[in-house]
Parts: sequence; C-alpha cells; structure tokens
Amino acid sequence: MIEKTAPEIRQLRWTPKAAEIAREAGARLREFFAEGVATEYKGDVDLVTVADRTVEKLIRTRMGEVFPEHGMYGEEGTREGLEREFRWYVDPLDGTTNFAHGFPQFCVSLGLEQRGAGLKEDEDGELVAAVIYDPMRDELFSAERRQGATVNGKRIQVSKTSVLAEALVATGFPSRKRHQNPNIHFYHEITLRSHGVRRAGSAALDLAYVAAGRLEGFWEFNLNPWDTAAGILLVEEAGGRVSNFAGEPFRLNSEETLVSNGLIHDELVGIFEDLFAGRDLTPLPSPEEFAAMRAEREIKAKGLE
Ligand code: IPD
Ligand code: CA
Ligand code: CA
Repeated sequence: MIEKTAPEIRQLRWTPKAAEIAREAGARLREFFAEGVATEYKGDVDLVTVADRTVEKLIRTRMGEVFPEHGMYGEEGTREGLEREFRWYVDPLDGTTNFAHGFPQFCVSLGLEQRGAGLKEDEDGELVAAVIYDPMRDELFSAERRQGATVNGKRIQVSKTSVLAEALVATGFPSRKRHQNPNIHFYHEITLRSHGVRRAGSAALDLAYVAAGRLEGFWEFNLNPWDTAAGILLVEEAGGRVSNFAGEPFRLNSEETLVSNGLIHDELVGIFEDLFAGRDLTPLPSPEEFAAMRAEREIKAKGLE
C-alpha cells in the first residue's frame, strides 16, 4: 500500500549508494536475461548461471569502492571482512530458476547488518539497511532502521486486512532436500483458508510485497540470510511482524521465516502449531478416490443418454 501523503524521508545513511549498486546489478541482469543464459546445477534442482556469478562479482567490486569499511557475505561464495562491524548479505539474483526459464520474476537483494563488538558468528546483529531491486518492473524497495520503507521513493506500509480468510499470502519451496520438506501440507491447508497462496519464486520479492501491502503474509522453510536480510527489515519498517513458525523472534539462520502485516500473524502461528501437531487438516479426496468419483459420474452420464 503506497501512502498518499508520504512524509518527508529523513537523512539516509546507506541506501542511496546501495540503490545505485543494485540498479547497476539489475541492469546487468536485464542484459543477461535478454541474451539468455545456460543453466548449470549446484545440486539436485539448485540452479546457477553465469549471471549469478558475474553480478555477485560486480556487486563485490562496487561495495569495495563505496563501502570499503564494510564486509560482505554473498550467495555465490563471497566471504569478506566478516569480522567488521557492518556486513552486507547479498543475493545477486534471487529467483534463479525463474531467470533461467525466462520467467520475469527475480531481483537483487542487499541487506546490511550492524554487528556489535564481541558478537559470536552464530549471533545476529541488527538489520539496519535494505535494498531490493526488481529490474524487470524497475521497482526499488528500500528501508533503513527507524526511517520507514519505500518503493521508488514513496512510503509503503503493510496491508490492513485482519483475517486470513481475506488474505493473499505467499510461500516458496527449497531446492535442496526437497523430499524432506513438509511445506506442501502447509501450502494445501493455507490455500483452503485464504484467498490463495502464491509461489512466485523469489523470496526477497515476496518479502518486499508483504512490506508494500500486496501480500498479507509469507512463510518459507530453510531460507538463507542473503534471501531474507533485506526483506525482513523492509517488512519491519513497513509496520509488519517477523518471527519463526512459533511466533518467537526471527533469526537470520533460524531456517524458519514467517512474516505478515501483523494482523494475521497470530492466526498463522496458530495454524502452524496445529499442523505440526497433526490437528485440523482439511480432508481432500485422494487421486484414486477422485478417479473413482469421476468414473462413477461418467457411468451415470452414459446411463442418462
Ligand atoms: C530461491 C528463491 C525461491 C525460494 C528458494 C530460494 P535463489 O533463491 O528465493 O523463491 O523458494 O528457497 O533458494 O536460489 O533463486 O537465489
Ligand atoms: Ca535467493
Ligand atoms: Ca541467488
């Protein structure tokens, strides 16, 4: 939801420069997308392309010039200055599977964490800046801690829908260890209790869309900090709520991401609790039962001819 009377944005410390880098990276992605790229496999169905690697390199170089005192943690292997106070989590291309198939839903995601002195590697600092850029729609989402969230410079806020039954939500499925993941049950159940569940293939954009009020909620198992760091801050700064599946504080490495406009959060947490306890699953016909019903209908129809 874009506010009509956007209040003046206050002094921003990091996002104007990070936005320049994200736009540059996005322009490069657009070129690769237009040319078409070959697909390689990192795992079972975990895809990577020359665009992922080239754009991470570009971001690394530009970050080094613009924020030489910051560290960087990138999906394609960059680990630089991790002992420093500030660390960028970088996904150069979130939505690689879409990208590789010519499906235009992907983005660049840059999230900045400030880490206090003495923090252990498995402890989270504070997320302080976020930029997510969708190069196909030319939409740049950005936020800084306590400064609000914007899309293309206009203030955004989470939606005001207060019940899941009237909500549009989103999820995603991991590309690693697919057979060990129960998300399809959550997908099924929440689909039956809402206006629908989208699976558009870019977790960072899903998070940005919750911030912008286009979705009421989003959840996913096993995301990484480069997928979530920027989007989590966007949701918080747009007035939403973030947690793990039990409604407890979100952690960058918790492998459980649940975000919402705040109003439907407790309802979602309640559903997760029920599903993990095996309660309240809505029965559906099995494919065999459905086939039997279909066959019966055909027999009846023929009998009526
Ligand atoms: C993936 C996307 C997708 C999500 C996967 C992620 P990648 O990131 O965010 O929406 O479902 O879990 O791995 O591999 O395209 O950067
Ligand atoms: Ca990603
Ligand atoms: Ca990626």
